[in-house]
Order: sequence, then C-alpha cells, then structure tokens
Amino acid sequence: MTTILAIETSCDETAAAVIADGSLIHSNIVASQIDLHAQYGGIFPEVASRAHAESISAVVGQAMTEAAITYADLDAIAVTQGPGLVGSLLVGINFAKGLALATERPLLGINHLEGHVYSLWLAPNFVEVEFPVLVAIISGGHSELVLMQGHGHYQRIGGTIDDAAGEAFDKVGRILGLPFPGGPAIERAARTGAIDAYDFPRAKTDGAYDLSFSGLKTAVMRAATVQPSARRRGKRERGAEKRSPLRDEVNINDVAAAFQDAVSDALVTSACRAARDFKANAVYLAGGVSANQMLREKLRAKLGLPVCFPPLYLCTDNAAMIGAAAHFRYRAGHRSPLDFEARASWRLSEDVYAD
Ligand code: KG4
Ligand code: ZN
Repeated sequence: MTTILAIETSCDETAAAVIADGSLIHSNIVASQIDLHAQYGGIFPEVASRAHAESISAVVGQAMTEAAITYADLDAIAVTQGPGLVGSLLVGINFAKGLALATERPLLGINHLEGHVYSLWLAPNFVEVEFPVLVAIISGGHSELVLMQGHGHYQRIGGTIDDAAGEAFDKVGRILGLPFPGGPAIERAARTGAIDAYDFPRAKTDGAYDLSFSGLKTAVMRAATVQPSARRRGKRERGAEKRSPLRDEVNINDVAAAFQDAVSDALVTSACRAARDFKANAVYLAGGVSANQMLREKLRAKLGLPVCFPPLYLCTDNAAMIGAAAHFRYRAGHRSPLDFEARASWRLSEDVYAD
C-alpha cells in the first residue's frame, strides 16, 4: 500500500489529504477562503496567500490526525506545483519541501489539472473505462479538453481561447448581483428561470474543439443591464469595477437559466465532437463547473457513451485529487528535486513533467 500526504494551495482553498493507493481517502481537509474573498467579488491574490500561510500548518495537522497516521507511515509527500497563483502555490510548496526534508520522504510536485483528472479515480462508483477517454477540465481558471491515452499520457486537443467557463459563471453572477462564486448561485437561480427567455450566443471558434465565453458574458451584460451612454462610459471605466444597474424588467432567474443553457450547450457540443472524432470510450468531467447538474444531464443525454463525474465535494479544489494523481506518478517513478519552482501557467500535455 502506498500512502501519500498531499497539499493543495493553488487558489483560494488551503487543503491537505492523506490518500492510500490513489483511491482511498483517509482524510480530506479543505479550509475555504470564500468568505474572505466574497467582498471583492473574486479572488484577491495577496489575501489568498496570507490566508494560506495562516492555516496551512493546522490543515496539514488535521489531515494527519484524521488519517490517524504518523509521518513515518508516509511513502511520499505531494504538493500542487502549478498552475495557479504563485504567492499561494509557494505557501504549499515551501511547507511541503520543509516536511519532505524533515521526514526524509520523497517529494512530488503535481500539476493541478492532472489532480482534477484523478478526482475521478476517487469517485466511490468509478469504473475505469479502457483508454482513450476524453477529459473535460472545467473550472474557474481552466476549460480544457484533453485526450487521456493512458495514466499520465495526455494530448491537449482544445480549450477556451478567452474566459474559463467558471470565470464566466463568476462574472455573470457578479453582473446579476449574485453572491461569489457565481456557479452555485446561478445554478440555484436558474432552477426557477425560463431557458428560452433569452437567446444567448453559442460561440463559434476557429479551432474545432475550442471554446469561447467572453462574448456570452458581454451578451448577458447587454441584455440584463442598463448600458451607460457613450459619454458616461469613459467615466465608468476609470471608476473601477462598478456594477452596472440591472434593467427594471430583468428577471434574474431567467437570465441565469438562459446563460447556464448556453454554457452547457457550448461545452457539450465540443466534448461530444471531440469524443467522437478521437474515438474516446468515455467522457470524464472534472473541475468546479462539473458540479453543474444541467451540464451533467445534457452531456448524458447527448453523448451516447459512458460519462463520469467526481462526487460534488471533489469537483472544486481539494488535496485528495492531488494525492490520487501523485499515486500514479509515484508508481511510475516520478520524484521532484527539492528546489523545484512554482509554475503560474502549466498545460497538461504528453511531456507535462519533462522540464
Ligand atoms: O475547480 P475550482 O474549485 O477552482 C479552479 O481550479 O478554478 O472551480 C471553481 C469554479 C468557480 O468559477 C465556480 O463558480 C464554479 O467552479 N462552480 C460552478 C458550480 N460550482 C462551482 N459552476 C457551475 N455550476 C456549479 N454548480
Ligand atoms: Zn481547480
């Protein structure tokens, strides 16, 4: 049995988990900073790294206590190396390096997107389908379509050319005056809205499997808010981040429903096309947006192949998924040098750990 302590601090969750054999969760602690960032309507990097520094020691301690093991029981220590906010990543990385040094355990720097992929392996009812499978990683920072040809073998075949899907949810949530993060709030509002109240665009991109969400966000803004006159627009832009007032007749639930419908359509269309063209045997959805029920249902209805999702608590950022990814890397002989650096941007591709 391989036991790994994993640490994740790439964005706004301070997380630690103990994972056995890449699939058994002994502990999974997530300290969310959402309340701290809600007032800014988004993640404030400086606030995030400070909050990580304050809670990392307690979070890791709790993960070890709940798993009821000692450091001597660990085979390795894993930590998210990137992509993410560098100031946040460094808190987790430096903590993990210190631990690895003190406990003389090998250290593995893990790609956060690969972590999202392996959240599927932690699903209680997960059935491993024969490769290749198409993985759609759709979160606040990423919207990527990746063909997984085996453990650790990825071919990136498309993704967003502008905003990530979760970012679009967050921005539209803000336009509608909903709480941050926008995804769950929009999903709730959409339950009583009419999807056909608005006909929002499904973006066409040059790449067959690429996605684009910034035009959709602009369309929502135009439809739902009072547009400033040309003269006042300059002022508003200088006046930083002020929210435009909603039109009197706007029903927030209708806008939320029509927007969610448009995002799901775009994702499902690209995922189905890619799965068919690359002869995938299944589609795995991962990342915060994969929690969305409408998206799940649309994909199930349209795909005609097995579809797998992580359980809801593993869709958003956590360290259990980093531990699961680390297990497969550890098994393949991967180890990181103690002086490895944080990576702000880092794509998931065949040679992901090559340099
Ligand atoms: O994976 P994640 O926790 O962080 C990143 O790695 O980015 O994803 C967070 C994103 C946020 O943008 C949030 O609005 C979105 O996932 N999200 C959702 C839902 N739950 C979270 N989007 C749509 N529907 C949801 N139910
Ligand atoms: Zn993530």
